[in-house]
Amino acid sequence: MQIDLTIQKELIFKAKIALKNSYSPYSNFKVGAALLTSNQEIITGTNIENRYFNLTICAERTAIVKAISKGINNFQAIGLASLNKDQNIQYNCYPCGVCREFLHEFTPNILVILETAANQIKTINLTELLPQD
Ligand code: THU
Repeated sequence: MQIDLTIQKELIFKAKIALKNSYSPYSNFKVGAALLTSNQEIITGTNIENRYFNLTICAERTAIVKAISKGINNFQAIGLASLNKDQNIQYNCYPCGVCREFLHEFTPNILVILETAANQIKTINLTELLPQD
């Protein structure tokens, strides 16, 4: 499954908007996610931290939780964007292991879309990030 480049760019753009709402006073690392549903809806999420850091929820899981709560559980792709603690774009920010498992629960072959450098986009299938399930 591939996604049109225009939509890939839109997902990264919406992820960048979503990260503005990040609640991350402990890491100062802001992440945004934009989930493309099977019926072309885009649902965003951001990371939400807690002083007990284990309770932190990543941007990817926030987006999934929002979608499932709306009754949507089929996805095509998830675009990601991050700002590091110096508020510079963090390229090549892959989903953490927990988020890979969480995405896999609903769409094992979801396409993950990342920025690898200024204006450079990479797509990678979750089957490559979480092989041999
Ligand atoms: N984080 C995400 O939201 N998604 C990722 O893919 C990587 C990590 C968040 C969790 C935490 O709030 C901060 O980034 C630093 O790890």
